[in-house]
Amino acid sequence: MSAVSFSSVSKVFNTPKGPFQALDDVTLTIEEGEFFGLLGPNGAGKTTLISILAGLARASSGSVSVLGSDVQTQFAAARRQLGVVPQELVFDPFFNVRETLRLQSGYFGVKNNDAWIDELLENLGLADKAGANMRQLSGGMKRRVLVAQALVHKPPIIVLDEPTAGVDVELRQTLWQFVARLNKQGHTVLLTTHYLEEAEALCTRLAMLKRGRVVALARTSELLGAASANVLRFKTDDALPPQLAAQARVTGRVAQLPAQDAQEIEQHLSQLRAAGVRVEDVEIRKADLEDVFLNVMAQAAGEGAP
Ligand SMILES: Nc1ncnc2c1ncn2[C@@H]1O[C@H](COP(=O)(O)OP(=O)(O)OP(=O)(O)O)[C@@H](O)[C@H]1O
Ligand SMILES: [Mg+2]
Repeated sequence: MSAVSFSSVSKVFNTPKGPFQALDDVTLTIEEGEFFGLLGPNGAGKTTLISILAGLARASSGSVSVLGSDVQTQFAAARRQLGVVPQELVFDPFFNVRETLRLQSGYFGVKNNDAWIDELLENLGLADKAGANMRQLSGGMKRRVLVAQALVHKPPIIVLDEPTAGVDVELRQTLWQFVARLNKQGHTVLLTTHYLEEAEALCTRLAMLKRGRVVALARTSELLGAASANVLRFKTDDALPPQLAAQARVTGRVAQLPAQDAQEIEQHLSQLRAAGVRVEDVEIRKADLEDVFLNVMAQAAGEGAP
């Protein structure tokens, strides 16, 4: 049985400007035990897809099932299998951290859960905040509580919608260690993130969404393998010649050019020299997921819903 199955899911929002198609015929299946990444630029439809999975929004057409249970017709059964960390920080300000987690346990009918709650607090660096009121927590700590809340009933499927946004480096590392351990123990993980380094390190398979459509779906290793193998990176204050500018990724003074092999690197360098571009700090690195992502998004330009 698959853990999560999206079948031809579309979502149209009615807005003052007319209907807006946020998801367009999304079909994808996540197998049990997978660490699956859902990537896409802002507004691509990731949170909308997760909201439909969690039963917080209804698909306009298509269906979604969780371990065989339909999220609409068998809502309670489907919801119980899921631990969802929402992108938005929502919580009840009147409870402290431990009370918040106990309440959430009660919501799923889990009793005598304190040992697991303690383990969650410990693993998420919240042990000393157990008695703190939710209002007193910093933004990053609130997000840690959201993660704990999602895991409190030990769901077989963990859904993380940008869990590391605004979270410091140290917690990101502990959080990923913890989630990776849960994944090893058999929990399925569905993750969205804009930190492509994290996705590359953690996810075995990835889907990329653009304007509500799946524009790539493959194993992470395949996506990386299909990318141009190398990237020539350098700093410059000069404008690149047009033929190079078209394929360059430029961030401030840093320019990066994809190159298949040594010969192409030489060609790039000689074109730069011919154009009188002065370069500094030249280096060659392997293409990473960010290169693949930008490439996929550029190729999918103009496709998708209006
Ligand atoms: N309730 C709503 N009514 C109208 N439009 C909506 C609604 N919710 C989302 N949208 C639109 O649907 C599109 C997808 O939004 P969604 O939140 O799913 O994107 P996302 O991929 O999660 O983006 P981000 O990376 O910024 O979190 C956006 O254009 C958004 O404005
Ligand atoms: Mg989102």
